[in-house]
Amino acid sequence: MTQNIYDNDEFFAGYLRLPRSVAGLEGAPEWPALRAMLPDLHGRTVLDLGCGFGWFCRWAREQGAAYVAGIDVSEKMLARARADTQDDSISYTLADMERIELPPQSFGLVYSSLALHYVEELDRLMAEMHRALIAGGSLVVSVEHPIYTAPRNPGWTGDAAGGKSWPVDSYLDEGPRSTD
Ligand SMILES: C[S@@+](CC[C@H](N)C(=O)[O-])C[C@H]1O[C@@H](n2cnc3c(N)ncnc32)[C@H](O)[C@@H]1O
Repeated sequence: MTQNIYDNDEFFAGYLRLPRSVAGLEGAPEWPALRAMLPDLHGRTVLDLGCGFGWFCRWAREQGAAYVAGIDVSEKMLARARADTQDDSISYTLADMERIELPPQSFGLVYSSLALHYVEELDRLMAEMHRALIAGGSLVVSVEHPIYTAPRNPGWTGDAAGGKSWPVDSYLDEGPRSTD
């Protein structure tokens, strides 16, 4: 079942305090790397999956994108995105990436930042994204590094150099992860 942790009041209040929530793209450590992968956006139609507060949607328009569609499963995230956006060429839609059906050959860029790791059936979504891209379109995504969600090793001594234990355990195991 699709999670929607961002509509949890406590989680949302914590998320609001993160640097990326306060400073936007410049507060996101991965932004310089992601930005370097982006094509020229001038005249492109853009889809942002898991758009959150809409920072990238607005930035894409500033770079000349013709139209940007932001999708998110969280009402709280979208409420803030809408409040911060005054642009008729950006639309925000409440939808679940796990189930979404995208219009075929409609976007010159499909973008998703730190959201795809929430999706269980990634193959299905990848196929949708591929179908939604026009010929020559670009896909640029980031996911959370799985080191952040690896279980902590209870035997961790803090002595990495000694090689006896490591701060995280089962880092390479595939499957669902849960964190608090
Ligand atoms: C870490 S935030 C990233 C927000 C924004 N992309 C950024 O880089 O700042 C992850 C976002 O993905 C959204 N999300 C998680 N699962 C989703 C799903 N199944 N469908 C649509 N959005 C989802 C969350 O609601 C949240 O807004």
